[in-house]
Amino acid sequence: QDEVCAQRIVAAKQKLGKRTVILAHHYQRADVYQHADLTGDSLKLSYLAAQTDADYLVFCGVHFMAEVADILSSSEQVVILPDLSAGCSMADMANLAKVERAWRELAEVIDPDALITPVTYINSSADLKAFCGEHGGIVCTSSNATKILQWSFAQREKVLFFPDQHLGRWSGHQMGLSLEEMPVWDFDEPMGGLTPEQIDKAKILLWKGHCSVHQMFQPQHILRFRNQHPDGLVISHPECSFEVCKASDFVGSTEYIINTIREAEPGTRWLVGTELNLVGRIAEEFKSQGKMIQFMSPMVCMCSTMARIDPQHLAWSLENLVDGRVVNQIKVPEREAKLARLALEKMLAVSK
Ligand code: 13P
Ligand code: SF4
Repeated sequence: QDEVCAQRIVAAKQKLGKRTVILAHHYQRADVYQHADLTGDSLKLSYLAAQTDADYLVFCGVHFMAEVADILSSSEQVVILPDLSAGCSMADMANLAKVERAWRELAEVIDPDALITPVTYINSSADLKAFCGEHGGIVCTSSNATKILQWSFAQREKVLFFPDQHLGRWSGHQMGLSLEEMPVWDFDEPMGGLTPEQIDKAKILLWKGHCSVHQMFQPQHILRFRNQHPDGLVISHPECSFEVCKASDFVGSTEYIINTIREAEPGTRWLVGTELNLVGRIAEEFKSQGKMIQFMSPMVCMCSTMARIDPQHLAWSLENLVDGRVVNQIKVPEREAKLARLALEKMLAVSK
């Protein structure tokens, strides 16, 4: 069955030729990833989507990634997400109504448009990117967050960072900010659950969001590894908790994790705190270099929503293209796309 599906994908790709490009995020399952023309972390995939001149971009990732590809590609290019239910639970933790409410509440104590740069992690819906575009803000990814924060502080004295508190906190810490200067904005509470004094002292207001996959990694997993392998190295994604990031030797995006281990000495041993598909793939790939790679958690931590893009859905969307039908197109409304593009292009320019 799997072999038949793989053959269907290869045959459809061959018929479509250069008109179609398949992009895949590093968390994608192996039976889909193997068919990708272009792979990367969120930042790299954004550049690749902006550069490709293919007519059809079949995006094997999650919904917000396909939206970014649509916003950054030309209006004639078509972006397809093979399964529309492939979302990101973290992205769903912030929405426009809640962010607008926070902005209104903040306006009761300060002038947010003069004093706060809204920064959205790329893991967010297009309307939140548009909000940032409209309010002088910007987008960031896990590989450029510190640089983007530096840019943001050069514009205004504070930042409202959504939806991932962990990436915001770790990046702020890298810049020398204290935890007191980075309180959590609890969107379930009036005024984020903060006093006017706390807001006054704050440099970054951290949205109360997180990734359900990365929150599974714990400092005790690192401790156990270090006890067993005192020479071992620990590398984590910045969506992990502050305690896990602090206990790690290296912290960075999926692309950074892959490159750091690729460039490491043969014979090194690694504990990796990010999604299981990626860790399994690099453990296999780098085995021949004598590198031992271990997954951080004893639990199975997979991005189950990204895994919804399976070979069946990929084959189905490609075969429809062969027959001249577009299925599961992701199209961001033009007004929203225009403002979101502003915030995304600002990010691409700042992170160069
Ligand atoms: P990267 O940008 O590091 O690929 O991260 C995206 C993501 O969703 C991690 O959970
Ligand atoms: Fe979203 Fe977490 Fe999946 Fe990344 S791993 S796409 S943040 S749910």
